[in-house]
Amino acid sequence: IDIKEFQHDLIDWYNHHKRELPWRKNQDPYRVWVSEIMLQQTKVDTVIPYFNRFMEWFPTPEALAEAKEEKVMKAWEGLGYYSRVRNLQTAVKEVVEEYGGNVPSSKKEFSSLKGVGPYTAGAVLSIAYEKPEPAVDGNVMRVFSRILLIKEDIGKAKTRRLFESFIPKFLEGVKPSEFNQALMELGALVCTPKSPGCLLCPVQKHCAARAEGIQDELPVKEKK
Ligand code: ADE
Repeated sequence: IDIKEFQHDLIDWYNHHKRELPWRKNQDPYRVWVSEIMLQQTKVDTVIPYFNRFMEWFPTPEALAEAKEEKVMKAWEGLGYYSRVRNLQTAVKEVVEEYGGNVPSSKKEFSSLKGVGPYTAGAVLSIAYEKPEPAVDGNVMRVFSRILLIKEDIGKAKTRRLFESFIPKFLEGVKPSEFNQALMELGALVCTPKSPGCLLCPVQKHCAARAEGIQDELPVKEKK
């Protein structure tokens, strides 16, 4: 694969086709963080109104740190997976107390906060701080499984680490915020789990699965 050409084709498409989403208005790390936590188990269309209200109620780390737990739970009602927001409030309190309200930009510090796993760390550090970190979720594994014909089980931690090991090559010479969000957008809009839109795909010419006609069989996910 010609990585330079792949980057160009993907990013060019992204810049013409990206959705205007409320968390893409700026690169405020707190906004990006909240959005990534909400988006982990919840679809974009559902998240949008929750995200907007959450930002009105708790516009800064300080506001969330000081908020009553009841009101925070109320803001999350309907999103489910409530440990996400409990961990977020705990983490934000630590940001206020230990970092003066500034979301840390080092991977070590940010990753040590409650509820921040490898995906969240990669997403926030790349989107808000332009750090060349991979942000590997199911979408990104699906896209790269197809492009590079990776047949490993994406349910395994070892497979996620495989993706994290080669993605830095793809982040060289690009804006990490653009490249990572372009991958997410391609996974959401074109390189979908069922009936992927290969005819419209900006990186079709780079796709090994498409060349073999097995895009529907990837990624491999063994049932547990
Ligand atoms: N899914 C996870 N993160 C996302 C983002 N930043 N934009 C759109 N969809 C996403």
